[in-house]
Amino acid sequence: MFFSSDNAAPAAPEVMAALAAANEGYTSSYGADDIMDRVRARMRDIFEAPEAAVYLVSTGTTANALALSILARPWQAVFCHRHAHAEEDECGAPEFYTGGAKLITLGGADAKIDATELRTRGAETGQLGVHNIQRGALTITNVNELGSVYTVAEIKELCRIARNLGMGTHLDGARFANALVSLNCSPAEMTWKSGVDVVSFGGTKNGLMGVEAVVIFDPEKAWEFELRRKRGGHLFSKHRYLSAQMDAYLKDGLWLRLARQANAMGARLEAELGHVDGFRMVHPRHANMLFCGFPQAGHKRAQDAGAMYYPWPNKAPSGGSEVFLTCRLVTSWCTTTEEVDRFVAAVRG
Ligand SMILES: Cc1ncc(COP(=O)(O)O)c(C=O)c1O
Repeated sequence: MFFSSDNAAPAAPEVMAALAAANEGYTSSYGADDIMDRVRARMRDIFEAPEAAVYLVSTGTTANALALSILARPWQAVFCHRHAHAEEDECGAPEFYTGGAKLITLGGADAKIDATELRTRGAETGQLGVHNIQRGALTITNVNELGSVYTVAEIKELCRIARNLGMGTHLDGARFANALVSLNCSPAEMTWKSGVDVVSFGGTKNGLMGVEAVVIFDPEKAWEFELRRKRGGHLFSKHRYLSAQMDAYLKDGLWLRLARQANAMGARLEAELGHVDGFRMVHPRHANMLFCGFPQAGHKRAQDAGAMYYPWPNKAPSGGSEVFLTCRLVTSWCTTTEEVDRFVAAVRG
């Protein structure tokens, strides 16, 4: 009963098999391997973007920070939600890789950026000429940090505001597949057709051992990305092992199958917990993350039964057995119905 993070799940067997298969003989290094050619072709096909540049890195932080570094100059601002991973969980990597761009944080319910706030703060930024930080880029996250999914219309609106302010948009898709199957739209609709310029296309949380892609829709930005990735120490020499993972992930829709399972288990968890006395969601669930709460006694029973998950926000449990305590529950590609049902039974007692 492991609901602490989708990062805690293993890699999918298909991915491990692809790694073993790639571990044969010699091949070109630094991304010139044949498997990477296949990954690039698959990704362009999936995104309906024949010109897109596709690169692989090993962490989501690297993907985000390098992506932002080609959208914002050191004297510019990156607008993000105040709960964005880029703001709260990347130890200043976006500022570091951009050479000092400033993150300007915005509000909005359920970790979705409030469009009016973006319009207002964006318009104010850069008004005092040389004395001001200038406008640079917008970054949004789908699935976002509180488990909500921006709709295509919401993405379009935010990108339009950013574009009118002269800014490009980055999408942190650490859970890209989970967002996509939740929206039931095409990758193109969720990204470039809505105005997104650069995507961090996650894989690690959804069955890879450790690979994320960066997809850049404007090929003119590609060379700068390549230079920055190398300079940042993230161009892998034995690149075939990154390529093999992503190739297996994209082959025959594995990435979507894995995400559908994770989301289905999220839905089941929400539905079954709905029968528990005192249970309530604190943010809407759109994919594989639940932010919810129930009385402390249920948490004690679940933890005694071996369930692993985090209280959220990170507060130590306190108070009596009836106290409402909130937590984050994350399902993954390998969560089973049995695991969900056992957890809910333990919470109920
Ligand atoms: C929204 C979001 N973006 C990016 C990441 C990638 O982080 P990492 O650098 O740990 O791979 C995560 C992982 O927790 C995340 O939740």
